[in-house]
Amino acid sequence: MKSVLVTGAAAGIGESVARMAASRGYRVGVMDVNAEGAARVAQSLPNAVALCGDVRDPDAVEAALDQFGEAPSVVVNNAGIVRFASLMDHTLEDWKLALDINLTGTFIVARAAALRMREHGGGSIVNLASINAINPGTGIGSYPASKAGVIRLTEQMSIEWAQYGIRVNCVAPGFIDGGMSTPIYANPEVRRIRGGAVPLKRLGTCDDVAEAILWLASDAAGYITGQNIAIDGGVINSVIANLPRV
Ligand SMILES: NC(=O)c1ccc[n+]([C@@H]2O[C@H](COP(=O)([O-])OP(=O)(O)OC[C@H]3O[C@@H](n4cnc5c(N)ncnc54)[C@H](O)[C@@H]3O)[C@@H](O)[C@H]2O)c1
Repeated sequence: MKSVLVTGAAAGIGESVARMAASRGYRVGVMDVNAEGAARVAQSLPNAVALCGDVRDPDAVEAALDQFGEAPSVVVNNAGIVRFASLMDHTLEDWKLALDINLTGTFIVARAAALRMREHGGGSIVNLASINAINPGTGIGSYPASKAGVIRLTEQMSIEWAQYGIRVNCVAPGFIDGGMSTPIYANPEVRRIRGGAVPLKRLGTCDDVAEAILWLASDAAGYITGQNIAIDGGVINSVIANLPRV
């Protein structure tokens, strides 16, 4: 049986990945720093275990992997945060927090899992970047830098770990109507403007992202490693198209 460990799976995109994976026959590790949320999601799934742990803490990550009890065939490094601030107003504490969770946490979980995958002939890792890794935006502190780091880290892991049969890819979600962006899209005017700016003319959903993650993780993508796929309805390519001609 295939198994997947999803970090940050108590809410948003991670919860969607956990639910979709369970519906497709995976055994699921629902890992989150929010123990109550992880338990709620795991209890609602047919074959899942709640794993409490902070991705910044290597001992907690090892304990979560031990509790899962097998080398996962798939790991989804989804736990992430954003701290809203312009760079001039960004506290060093918040700068470090987003880097520690989004980038260093991805490294800690991926390496711990890869060491176990190596012993079992391979596996697949999917990391969460963001379109902000490519088009930075403003007022989101170290988030774009942390996510740009995730893309380059993905590339490096993919070439170092290919010899062990471990594929590593990432996805870059765009304007997603869910998860950490829920408060942003609670405003109907923001929904209208942002949805209208997307070439596919709608906001994305957590399930749109989960579909791409599970495809990249699956054997169907067995010859793909080190790639980033934007799940954004075309928005990162639309800057020039959205400018008026006159
Ligand atoms: N929702 C979006 O618009 C969007 C867009 C682009 C990228 N992303 C990325 O997708 C991923 C998921 O985002 P989301 O929108 O579902 O967010 P979310 O806030 O809904 O969920 C994030 C989950 O991560 C958990 N978490 C936070 N810090 C943790 C830590 N240190 N250790 C373990 N778990 C931790 C939280 O408890 C939460 O359950 C993030 O990496 C985010 O940067 C989201």
